[in-house]
Amino acid sequence: MIPDSFIQDLLARIDIVDLVDGYVPLKKAGANYAACCPFHNEKSPSFTVSPTKQFYHCFGCGAHGTAISFVMEYQGMGFVDAVKELASRAGMQMPESEGRGFNDEKPGQTRALIEIMARAAQYYKDQLKATPRAIEYCKKRGLSGEIAARFGIGYAPDGWQNLQAVFPNYNADELKTAGLIIENEAGRRYDRFRDRLMIPIINQKGDIIAFGGRIIDQGEPKYLNSPETPLFEKGRELFGLPQARQALRDTDTAIVTEGYMDVIALAQNGVGNAVAALGTATTATHVNKLLRQVDRIVFCFDGDNAGRKAAWRALENSLEALADNKRLGFVFLPQDEDPDSYIRTHGKEEFDRLVIQAMPLSDFLLRELAQRCDLTSSEGKAQLIYEAKPLLLKLPTPLLRLQLVKRLAEASGFAQSEVERLCDLKSYTPAAPAKARRTAPSLTRNLLRLVLHKPQLASQLQVDLLPDTPERPALIRLRELVSGASQEASSYAALRERLRGMPEEALIENAAAELLGQPFDEAESETEFRDTLEKLQEGGQKKAFAELQIKAQQFGVAGLSAAEKLAYIQFLSNRGK
Ligand code: UTP
Ligand code: MN
Repeated sequence: MIPDSFIQDLLARIDIVDLVDGYVPLKKAGANYAACCPFHNEKSPSFTVSPTKQFYHCFGCGAHGTAISFVMEYQGMGFVDAVKELASRAGMQMPESEGRGFNDEKPGQTRALIEIMARAAQYYKDQLKATPRAIEYCKKRGLSGEIAARFGIGYAPDGWQNLQAVFPNYNADELKTAGLIIENEAGRRYDRFRDRLMIPIINQKGDIIAFGGRIIDQGEPKYLNSPETPLFEKGRELFGLPQARQALRDTDTAIVTEGYMDVIALAQNGVGNAVAALGTATTATHVNKLLRQVDRIVFCFDGDNAGRKAAWRALENSLEALADNKRLGFVFLPQDEDPDSYIRTHGKEEFDRLVIQAMPLSDFLLRELAQRCDLTSSEGKAQLIYEAKPLLLKLPTPLLRLQLVKRLAEASGFAQSEVERLCDLKSYTPAAPAKARRTAPSLTRNLLRLVLHKPQLASQLQVDLLPDTPERPALIRLRELVSGASQEASSYAALRERLRGMPEEALIENAAAELLGQPFDEAESETEFRDTLEKLQEGGQKKAFAELQIKAQQFGVAGLSAAEKLAYIQFLSNRGK
């Protein structure tokens, strides 16, 4: 267990606006900040971050939480790892746990590996400066010193144990785990990368997690890459993503290429929004990652057979990540060209034109399927639908799917409804819009809102006055959490963390979201709180009086207990006032 007090300190030190802005650029929107939600695909921003309450809420998908939950969600981390990540950001020392506890080994190892990779990268960079042959090679490929620096390019010298100079403990397990050294069967250790240009692969946090090493000039293998390590999972990472962030924002488009050198050469020639899948097929994870940041992806693969195959794989793997407001396009380069060679011979403008005129996904899909089938024969037309079916079933986009169905119907000679039936497509009916709740907020709803605005007010709640509404348990829980707690421990974010997993969580999140739309007047919120309590008290008294009245009518005043009699008389005399 991590002590609550540590979580509170942490939440007080981290600014959620800064944190989120590092991943999802935020724009000021009134008292809050807004962006398109990183947790679902959307076109207009419904993701809101409150600087005063230190939480985020998405009005589209309901994502909600603190800085800690953001890191957990965004980076796919567990609670403890997310806390560690934030603690290291804030320069806070994690509390030592007695015995085993939460201090499991992995995150410590991760930090050690990141440290090792950073030191190795620095060494490689220094070596590049000292190696004319490697510098010459970069120049020959048209790379400036500035671009080399931007991508952190370095050089691993020839020789078997150069890294010994950087890591005196060359036998450390971590060097092997990091993928920098290899141990042969005889137990002899040597550097994985020798006499290669070193290209670091950097994750979204800015940590170097792997290297690609290119041979200088000719040789086999052309690239040697880091193996998969605890830091590096190939199918998830995109080369060049951190460097492309600003250009992605500016162009709202991501260009996906095949190679390291494509990305670097495009950047060198003024096209900064390119990334590369790392020698693997483009995965749905890649596409999802990109569509969080941009609305358009253009695949620009090499103009050879392998490139065309890669484009089709990318299409197949992207379908499930699509949304109707996102566009995917494909550029087919001339035979034997890759984006690097193309932009170097034809220039940025020509390349931009290719990207603008990229073939839409639907055209590529239909063209490719049509090429596989002989559409002059009945068999070919049947085959077209047969091949289209699995692709259509993957598409989550009702509008685009309908367009494709229409075109497939035309090409195959089937009726549109027949295509839908043959492909097992349910015809699309939009979900009924949620009924707007028009009822006036109840007194307890209002109390909850006020308490969330100023949690310490909860300590003034009288539990027996709270009527049995859905908010009652939430108010009682909040009262319990803030009683005796410090100011810091009573911030919304701190409470939100303590509510993790409790039954009142969802209702409280919901009410907290209402705060985002309303500026509060400090003084007024306290008056409103007191007024609401009074109303509840009055309501409670009226109800008690009504009950006594019924009893008195049934059994006469003599049927009331002594205490009830007293209360009844007091009510009667107060009523006259
Ligand atoms: P390419 O051969 O197209 O690479 O392979 P490139 O970036 O254009 O390289 P240059 O221009 O010849 O220097 C595409 C990608 O496939 C992976 C690398 O990620 C490369 O960037 N690859 C290729 C390897 O991992 N190993 C190889 O031997 C070759
Ligand atoms: Mn190339």
